[in-house]
Amino acid sequence: MKKKTKYLVTSALPYANGPIHLGHLAGAYLPADIYVRYCRLKKRDVVYICGTDEHGVPITITAEREGKSPQEVVDKYYAQIKRSFEKFGMSFDNFSRTSLPIHHQTAQEFFLNLYNKGYMTQKEVEQFYCETDRMFLADRYVEGECPYCHAPGARGDQCENCGKWLEPIQLIHPTCKICGNTPVVRKTTHYFFKLGMFQKRLEEWIGSKKDWRPNVVNFCHNWFKEGLEDRAVTRDLSWGVPVPLKEAQNKVLYVWFEAPIGYISSTKEWAEKIGQPDRWKDYWLDQENTKLVHFIGKDNIVFHAIIFPAMLMGHGQYVLPDNVPANEFLNIKGLKFSTSRGFALWVDEFLEKYPVDSLRYMLAINMPETRDADFSWEEFQAKHNNELADTLGNFVNRSLTFVKNYFDGRLPARGALDALDRELLEKLKQSREEVGQLIDRFQFKDATRRFMDMARFANKYFNDQTPWKTRKENPEKCATTINLCAQAARDLAVLMHPILPFTAGKIWRMLRLEVKPEDAHWDEIGEHPLPEGHPIGELEILFEKIPDKVIKKEIEKLEQIEKQAAENKAEKSVEEELITIEEFKKIQLKTAEVLEAERVKGTDKLLRLKIKVGEEERQLVAGVAQHYTPEEMVGKTIVIVANLKPAKIRGVESQGMLLAAHDDGNIVLLTTDRPTGSGKPIS
Ligand code: MF3
Ligand code: ZN
Repeated sequence: MKKKTKYLVTSALPYANGPIHLGHLAGAYLPADIYVRYCRLKKRDVVYICGTDEHGVPITITAEREGKSPQEVVDKYYAQIKRSFEKFGMSFDNFSRTSLPIHHQTAQEFFLNLYNKGYMTQKEVEQFYCETDRMFLADRYVEGECPYCHAPGARGDQCENCGKWLEPIQLIHPTCKICGNTPVVRKTTHYFFKLGMFQKRLEEWIGSKKDWRPNVVNFCHNWFKEGLEDRAVTRDLSWGVPVPLKEAQNKVLYVWFEAPIGYISSTKEWAEKIGQPDRWKDYWLDQENTKLVHFIGKDNIVFHAIIFPAMLMGHGQYVLPDNVPANEFLNIKGLKFSTSRGFALWVDEFLEKYPVDSLRYMLAINMPETRDADFSWEEFQAKHNNELADTLGNFVNRSLTFVKNYFDGRLPARGALDALDRELLEKLKQSREEVGQLIDRFQFKDATRRFMDMARFANKYFNDQTPWKTRKENPEKCATTINLCAQAARDLAVLMHPILPFTAGKIWRMLRLEVKPEDAHWDEIGEHPLPEGHPIGELEILFEKIPDKVIKKEIEKLEQIEKQAAENKAEKSVEEELITIEEFKKIQLKTAEVLEAERVKGTDKLLRLKIKVGEEERQLVAGVAQHYTPEEMVGKTIVIVANLKPAKIRGVESQGMLLAAHDDGNIVLLTTDRPTGSGKPIS
């Protein structure tokens, strides 16, 4: 006999390096919360897991910027993020942290498991090393020009402009994120996860997933097309989960290797907290009966649909994700939220001024499921005023006010049903099925629309039945209408609970129901369970309208931020462009004659040059070997920066730098227009 399905639901672990903004909520959190709340109303066996991602370069860079230790940074933001999520009504069963011992242990065991099975290989690699900061520059510690789209400011792990995932060593004109200096290349060893071995299995597995979102499947196909390669899963950093091998002192696990394992550690922590320490196994180790669902933003697809599943396959005992519903991004005026530019709407600030369910509604009905969505204050106001206040709020309010004023605050008896009455009950059942199916298919936007259609229908039912008239002309009919309106208000509370839990709670209180809405059963919607004579409680207004002048202020504020951001950018580029003549004079440019040239062994880009600068001879290392042969170089008069601090490149000292034009990947040397001697100053 097939056992009952168990649901293991996760939301991406947010980096503990900044507050939560609306973009986060719309991406990986609200949809998961709606899904989980719905599962609970269906009385499914569900556990909802999350926590903060507390390692990696995003954390240490924030620590440097804020002048704090990484531990202080993660403590601060863990607390702040947790509180924001609580205010937003996130109903995690556990919200853990990857800095906890239970996670370090779980991640290390996982690594060793793959290592012992032969899924790890050790390789010597070249990495940028900053001689000023005396450290290897992993991931986002280096920035430079993207090797694919040539946008400046690409980070060591990814180019934001073209979205390509990068290795830091691929960056053109790299600079150290901490001190701004140009790093050198050094050798180090790292452990690589043999991802390539899993390509076939992954392709078959994803190929069998007929209900995955096309954006996710297409993304994976592109990765498969390029061919999966081994991935370095260790880093030379001090903050993180130590690599559990003696020969790997001072190395930590790559944050993207260990963070997803955080889903497992958080489930373990949950099991311990509920006093059943083995309970996590019922979910993670029951491949037959567990549905694992990862809610994420689109920038996390490769990790959740390819790399983590491959790790799980390698380990062998764990369940694989049943679905990975990735959302696109929420923008403001077409622009990406940016924490560093201050261009974002922060959850805490938002909820100080506006009701949480209005935010949940706006984000749900506007969810970036298949394409990016835009947040606008005008739309927020319209949705709040016209749909939440005028439609939903109005229906509940007028129905219950009627009970209060004309039926002594008790539910009147239901008599014979007419066609409209039956239609209302029919519609309630129908929305129960449709909203439920939509949520099960991760179509939250349509589910929200469908719910509001139901509220609209109920409101229309009230109008069409004209209880204010039948009250005098046909009291029995009026009683039936109002009885059904109260039932509908109750049903709407259940129907809305996944999306608008706070409002559902208010309706529940007004109806003086003992159990909470989350204790209700989804399948009771449309079954008019409230008994005749049921007393109702104090009435509250569900949604106060938001006046124009309040929204106008928000719009102006946003325009201000936008302008500020644009000005900052403009100022910065002017500052960057203009230097004084004194500054320019600091750079000594001179002519030099190339005396000898040869390739630097073991590289295909570098030439070692012997040059004559006036009376002096110097050695230079130049990255021109793919554009000039050694023979071509000899005899040329070139332009060099003569007072550059000497640096070792691949162990060879370079005393200066030659100048060349970079023309779309092509390199063209600067020489003099007419013959000159060497060592002549250039200004
Ligand atoms: N911290 C990552 C981000 O914010 C998400 C990590 S998800 C996990 O993009 F699975 F790795 F935990
Ligand atoms: Zn540096």
